[in-house]
Amino acid sequence: MEFNIAVIPGDGVGPEIASSAVKVLDAVGEKFGHKFCYDYVDAGGVSIDKYGVPITEENMQKCLKADSVLLAAVGGYKWDTLPGHLRPERALLGIRKSMGLFANIRPARLNPYLKDACPLRAEAADKGFDMIIVRELTGGIYYGARGRRNGEGGEEAFDTECYSEKEVERIARVAFNLAMGRRKKVTSIDKANVLESSRLWREVVHRVAKEYSEVECSDMLVDNAAMQLIKNPSQFDVIVTSNMFGDILSDEASQLTGSIGMLPSASLGEGKVGLYEPIHGSAPDIAGTDTVNPLATVLSVAMMLRLSLGLEKEAQAVEEAVDSVLKNGYRTRDILNNGTSPLKCTEMTRKLIEEIKK
Ligand code: IPM
Ligand code: MG
Repeated sequence: MEFNIAVIPGDGVGPEIASSAVKVLDAVGEKFGHKFCYDYVDAGGVSIDKYGVPITEENMQKCLKADSVLLAAVGGYKWDTLPGHLRPERALLGIRKSMGLFANIRPARLNPYLKDACPLRAEAADKGFDMIIVRELTGGIYYGARGRRNGEGGEEAFDTECYSEKEVERIARVAFNLAMGRRKKVTSIDKANVLESSRLWREVVHRVAKEYSEVECSDMLVDNAAMQLIKNPSQFDVIVTSNMFGDILSDEASQLTGSIGMLPSASLGEGKVGLYEPIHGSAPDIAGTDTVNPLATVLSVAMMLRLSLGLEKEAQAVEEAVDSVLKNGYRTRDILNNGTSPLKCTEMTRKLIEEIKK
C-alpha cells in the first residue's frame, strides 16, 4: 500500500529524530511492501525564520491532506522572547486544533530492559507499570481567553480554563474505550476541590462511567496524582485528564520510564488521521550532536502504523525492534547503563533497522 505522510522535522534535535523515524519507516516499507511518501513541512522556529510565522497556510494544508502527520519537535531559545502568537509552539497548537485532534494518547510503560534506568526504589521498579495517559488536547487553559490588562497591582495577565460537557464527554469515552481493551480501570484526574471546571469535568466523567459498568472509575486530585505516580505507579491503568494536567503528568511519568526520550504519543480526532510525536521537546542544548534518543519518535511511528494506517504487524515489528536493541544492551546517552558506552542517534537507528530487516 501507499501512504502520504507529512513530516515536520522542526527545530533543535527535531531534524535528527525525524530522519531516524523516516529511515525506520523506509525499512518497514521495504520489508512489508509498502511505499511511504513524505511531504516535508516547515513548522516552528524554522518557519518563523523563513516565513515570519510559525506555520504558513500552505503548510497547514499539507498536514490536513496527509494520511498522517509525524512531528519531531519545535521550539528553542532563539524564539523564546517572541510574543505568544509568534512562538514556534503555536504551530503545534494550531495543527492540533485545525486537525481536530482532541485526544492525546501517551503510553508510559516501564520497559523490562530499562528497569535500571528507572529512578524509583527497587520494589516499585520491580513491580513495573504500564499506563496510558489520555490528555484532552484542544481545550482548557491552552485555548481559553487570555490577555493582559491594568489592575490595582499594575499590569495583570490571565489565562482561562474552560471545558464544555461535550469536550469532557468525548475525551472520557476515549479513555473508557481504551480501558475496555486493557485492565478496565480509569482514573480521572482533576482539581475539583478548587476549580469549577474540574467539578464539571468530574460530573461528566461519572455520567460517562455509567455506560461502562465493567470499568472501575475513580477520581484523583492532581496534586495527589503527582505523588501517587512516584509512590505507586503500578496502580494506574488509564488516566484521563485535562490539557495542562496531562502535559505535566506525562512528563513526570516519562521520567519513571527512565528517560523522556522513551515516550511516544498519538493525537487523534474523530477520524483515522493523527499526529504522532515524541512527548519530549526540541532539546536545543544537544541539537546537532547526534546524541538524542530516537526511540520516542520511533515508537510514535509504531503508533502511527497501528492507529492511523491500520498496519498492526508492521507496528509490532517496530516495537519488537526497540525491545531487541534494549535487550541487547544498546543505549543512547540518556538511558545509559553503568559500564556500557553510549550509541549515537544514527547508530541506534542503524541497530533498529538491522532488527527490522531480520
Ligand atoms: C507537549 C509539549 C507541548 C504542550 C508544547 C511544546 C506546546 O510540551 O506536547 O507536551 O504543552 O502541549
Ligand atoms: Mg509537554
